[in-house]
Amino acid sequence: MIILLFGPPGSGKGTQAELIKKECNINHISTGDIIREEVKKNTPLSKIIKTEIKNGKLINDKIIVDLIEKYIITNKKILLDGFPRTLEQAEFLSQKNFNIEYIINIKTEKQIIFKRIKYRILKNNKNYNILYNKPKIKNKDNITGEYLIKRPDDLFNIIDKRLKDYYNNLDKILNLYKNKIKIIEINGENNINKIFEEIKINIRKII
Ligand code: AP5
Ligand code: MG
Repeated sequence: MIILLFGPPGSGKGTQAELIKKECNINHISTGDIIREEVKKNTPLSKIIKTEIKNGKLINDKIIVDLIEKYIITNKKILLDGFPRTLEQAEFLSQKNFNIEYIINIKTEKQIIFKRIKYRILKNNKNYNILYNKPKIKNKDNITGEYLIKRPDDLFNIIDKRLKDYYNNLDKILNLYKNKIKIIEINGENNINKIFEEIKINIRKII
């Protein structure tokens, strides 16, 4: 069973997924996290991917599908964050007959996104925020104590590009799912806990 987690960059997909994971027995699969782990391997493929991410470009559909396919097959309940991002990726899920239960669509306006991303710091894909979600000790991960850093694709002009790509693809993907899969719209402009409360009400009906 798959739940798709949609939302523009900075809408809080990763943040909410962490909370959902603690609440329900579900596997969080983030294509962004998988790609960032792949980059660390320092292979010819990782060098290509690294440049694409840094420039805010979507990774080629074939590459991304090859990378994530094994995660989808081996897990049972999946919260899929950041996939599908193109019509081709959505068609891949359809062809494989994966059982998509619901889409959670976190909607957030551009100005709020810019502010959140400007102040995002992270380590090992764990997100914090200098303004809204501070670590207990300044610039350090709450658990490991490692130094928190900026993401290389969190620059103003790159975020703009990522947002444009997101919205260019979104309607095509939603059109494919319209009348087939229930789409739960969530107001992503509230604080983290309020958004989670809203998601929880819906997710309890599913899992
Ligand atoms: P990915 O890592 O998926 O990035 P994204 O979709 O752009 O989303 P983000 O991770 O930036 O934001 P988020 O919604 O998770 O927000 P977060 O919880 O961190 O993808 C990165 C790149 O990988 C892509 O650009 C592409 O190159 C490639 N890629 C990935 N998937 C791909 C695919 N399927 N096909 C092709 N290429 C792919 O929150 C953001 C900040 O705000 C944090 O600081 C957080 O603490 C804070 N915050 C969160 N919620 C709130 C709130 N309610 N109020 C205040 N602050 C909040
Ligand atoms: Mg994320």
